[in-house]
Amino acid sequence: MTATAAAPHFTANKLLLFGATGDLAQRMLLPSLCALDSDGLLPDDIRIICTARSEYDDDGFREFARDALTRFLPAGRAVKIEPFLEKLSYQALDASTPEGFDVLAKKVGGVDTGDNRGLSIFLSTAPFLFEPTIAGLQANGLASGNVRIGLEKPLGTDLATSCQINDAVAAAFPEHRIFRIDHYLGKETVQNLLALRFANILFEPLWNAAHIDHVQITVAETVGLEGRVGFYDGAGALRDMVQNHMLQLLALVAMEPPTSFDATPIRDEKVKVLRSLRRVARDETVRGQYRAGAIAGKAVPGYDEELGKDSDTETFVAIKAHVDNWRWKGVPFYLRTGKRMPERTTEIIVKFRDVPFSIFADRGARTQPNTLVIGIQPKENIRLSLMAKVPGLDREGLRLRSVPLDITMPDAFAGPERRIAYERLLLDLVEGDQTLFVRRDEVEAQWDWIDAIRATWDEHDISPKTYTAGSYGPSAAIALAERDGVTWHE
Ligand code: BG6
Repeated sequence: MTATAAAPHFTANKLLLFGATGDLAQRMLLPSLCALDSDGLLPDDIRIICTARSEYDDDGFREFARDALTRFLPAGRAVKIEPFLEKLSYQALDASTPEGFDVLAKKVGGVDTGDNRGLSIFLSTAPFLFEPTIAGLQANGLASGNVRIGLEKPLGTDLATSCQINDAVAAAFPEHRIFRIDHYLGKETVQNLLALRFANILFEPLWNAAHIDHVQITVAETVGLEGRVGFYDGAGALRDMVQNHMLQLLALVAMEPPTSFDATPIRDEKVKVLRSLRRVARDETVRGQYRAGAIAGKAVPGYDEELGKDSDTETFVAIKAHVDNWRWKGVPFYLRTGKRMPERTTEIIVKFRDVPFSIFADRGARTQPNTLVIGIQPKENIRLSLMAKVPGLDREGLRLRSVPLDITMPDAFAGPERRIAYERLLLDLVEGDQTLFVRRDEVEAQWDWIDAIRATWDEHDISPKTYTAGSYGPSAAIALAERDGVTWHE
C-alpha cells in the first residue's frame, strides 16, 4: 500500500501503554509523557493506562513510575511529577493469552465516546506479543474507529516475519491508524534535515551526482550489550540499527522533494529511495565484533566475554550502498554503525565534488571539496566547510584553507526546550500525525534490502572480524572506503 487514506482526526484522551515496566518505558516513555504533561501539551483529561505482566496496583505502579522518573528525567528539566502520576493507572496482564483483556478493557473504559476523542495504544513489548495483543484488543472492542496503535521496533527479524506482524496488525487496524516508531525520526536534527534541504535554495541544485562525490552516515555508540543479551545476540547491528535508523537517515538525505510536509508525500518519497537501493555486493560490507579494549580510559570487556560464549553476531557493520536512480547514479553512501566505538556520534557527511577547474593551481594553492557535516548527536550542529584565502600579502604564494561555517543548534535556538525524541512521537501518536512514523511499504523495502545482505553473508560465509573496543571497527571498514580514495570522517 502506498497511499494512506486520510485519517479521521481525533485527539486521544486515553493512552494505553503495553510494556509499561520495561526498560524503554522507564528510560524514555514515562519521562517523555511526564514532560509533555508538565508542559500542558497532553489533553488535560488524559488517562494513561499502563500494563505489563508484573503485579502492581495503581499506587504501586505510581511508585514504580516515580522512581523511573527520578532516575531518567533529563537533568535540569523542570517538570511536575505529582500531577502526572495521578493520571496513571495500572492493570497487570499476560498479553500472550486472551485472558485478562476483558479486565483491561474495563479499566480503559469505553472508547466510542463519539466526541472526537479516542484511544492511542503503544506496544513497547517483545514482537512475539504483538499478534496475541492485537487479537486481545480486537476481541474486547479496543480496535474500533477511534483507536490508533503505535508499534515499537523490532518489527520482525526479516521480511517474512515483518510481513507477518504487519498482516496481524492490518487485520485489526487500517494503515492510517498504525504508527510504526523509528525513534530517530523524533530527533530534532533528523527533522531539521528536511528543513535544511527544502527550506533553503542553496543546497537542492547541488544535491545530486553532478556535485556530490559521496555521503557518509555514521552512528557510533560507546555502549556494549547493556544487559540486552537475549535480544541483541539474535539481532546484530545490521538488523538493530541499519534496517531502521540508518536507512531512514539515508532516505531523508536521498529523497526527492515531497509535494508537502505531510505523511503521505514524505513517505512516498522515502519509499522510492528505499526501493532504489542496489543489492550490496559481497565486498561492499564489513562485519565486526568487539573484543576487550578501553573507552575514555576505562577498560571494557569483549562481546564474547559479556555474552559468556562465542557468537557470530556482528556488533559493527559498514556498508557501501548505492541508490540507483537519476539523482544518485555513481554516488556511494558509506554507512557504518557499531557498539563500543571511541565516542557516541551520529553524523551525516555530504562530501561535494571539487571545483571543476582551479584558478589558484598556478599559484600553488590547493582547493579542497566542500563538506557538509550534519551532527545529529551528541552535538546538534550543521557545519559547512568553505575554502577561504589565508590572510596575508602572499609573497610566498597564495594559500587557501578550509574554514567551517558552523551552526550549533542549541546556540542558534537558545530558547526552545531540547526534547526527548519520544516526546515528539508520543504527542504525534496522541494527536494522530503520521508524518514521522514509518509506513508498511517502507519497513518492507528496508527488510528486503537487509535480507539480501544477510543472504550474501550466509552464502559466502562472511563472519565478523574482530575489533578492539574503543576503535572505529575492523581495519577492513577503513579499507572499504579507502580503496575508493575516501576517508571516514572522524
Ligand atoms: C535502538 C537500538 O533502536 O537504538 C539500540 O536497539 C541503540 O541498540 C539505540 O543503542 C540507539 O539510540 P540512540 O537514540 O541512543 O542513538
